[in-house]
Amino acid sequence: MEELEKLDGILNDAENEMKDVDDLNELQQRKANYLGKKGIIASIMANMKSLTVDEKKAIGMKSNKIKQDLEAFFENKKKAIEDAIVSKKLESETIDVTLPGYKLPTGGIHPLNQTIMDLEDLFVGMGYKVAEGPEIETDEYCFEKLNLPKGHPARDMQDTFYINPELLLRSQTSPVQVRTMLEEKGEPIKIICPGKVYRRDADDATHSHQFMQCEGLVLGKDITLGDLKGALLEMFRKMLGADRNIRLRPSFFPFTEPSVEVDVSCGLCGGKGCNTCKHTGWIEVLGAGMVNDNVLRMCGYDPKEIQGFAFGIGVERITMMKYKIDDIRNFYTNDLRFLNQFKEEK
Ligand code: PHE
Repeated sequence: MEELEKLDGILNDAENEMKDVDDLNELQQRKANYLGKKGIIASIMANMKSLTVDEKKAIGMKSNKIKQDLEAFFENKKKAIEDAIVSKKLESETIDVTLPGYKLPTGGIHPLNQTIMDLEDLFVGMGYKVAEGPEIETDEYCFEKLNLPKGHPARDMQDTFYINPELLLRSQTSPVQVRTMLEEKGEPIKIICPGKVYRRDADDATHSHQFMQCEGLVLGKDITLGDLKGALLEMFRKMLGADRNIRLRPSFFPFTEPSVEVDVSCGLCGGKGCNTCKHTGWIEVLGAGMVNDNVLRMCGYDPKEIQGFAFGIGVERITMMKYKIDDIRNFYTNDLRFLNQFKEEK
């Protein structure tokens, strides 16, 4: 009988046809070609009208068996495709933990911050504490309590950004000394105060309207100018090299008496004289002095009991000397070609 033969071949056909199918939708469609309402099995059944009862029975039984086999076959095939999809996914998502990672670009420490960190390290090593204060200051703390009353001609030494008659952007870190003295109420002090300061200067190779200072203040019994010189010599030798020397020249600051200008021996010529040091062998680097009695009194100290010194380091200045940088604007223009030179790991 033709139909029986047909039925016999169907499972084989399906197996052959489905060999390369790896997509679930496609499998579903092809399954319908065999088992659907208009599928091969259904059409064989539809053609049975002309057959005898026995023939119908034989074909009915056979087709039921084939249907079951086909169902089982398609079910297995579906599982196999699903398994293959999962394996493929797992394979593609495997992580090789031994591969080296991506290198993310990192920033470096800004050379000015590095100088401040170096200064903090070395002064803390000498027993100093680090003190900080606000960048928006009062006229009282920035000037008046530093022996600079309103109208004093020495105020012109620092051209200041005023917010209103009483508030300003600090032009020096000295007000942090005032704040510390008022807090310590007559007790000995040993601090440095690093931070940003502002002045109404036109920016050029050696001036910046915003720059950094690191002020120092030491108050105690019998502190002398010799102690100041010792502390500064130690600082310069650690920062710039053990062969450096310093000298003190008389100067004027309203908050110190006597006041000195400190020169450091030129690193380029070793003190013999060159263009950089204008053939003097020395480079002027900072202002300092013994704290003025008026300042001590205004900040709650008795000058007969406690004396001391103060100094103001220009952070840019010393950084420029250390790395031989010739333009202060390099620190503030954020050019990576400049900044990357200071990164430890490139
Ligand atoms: N504050 C001074 C300036 O900015 C520097 C200085 C500090 C001088 C401490 C003497 C003592 O010019």
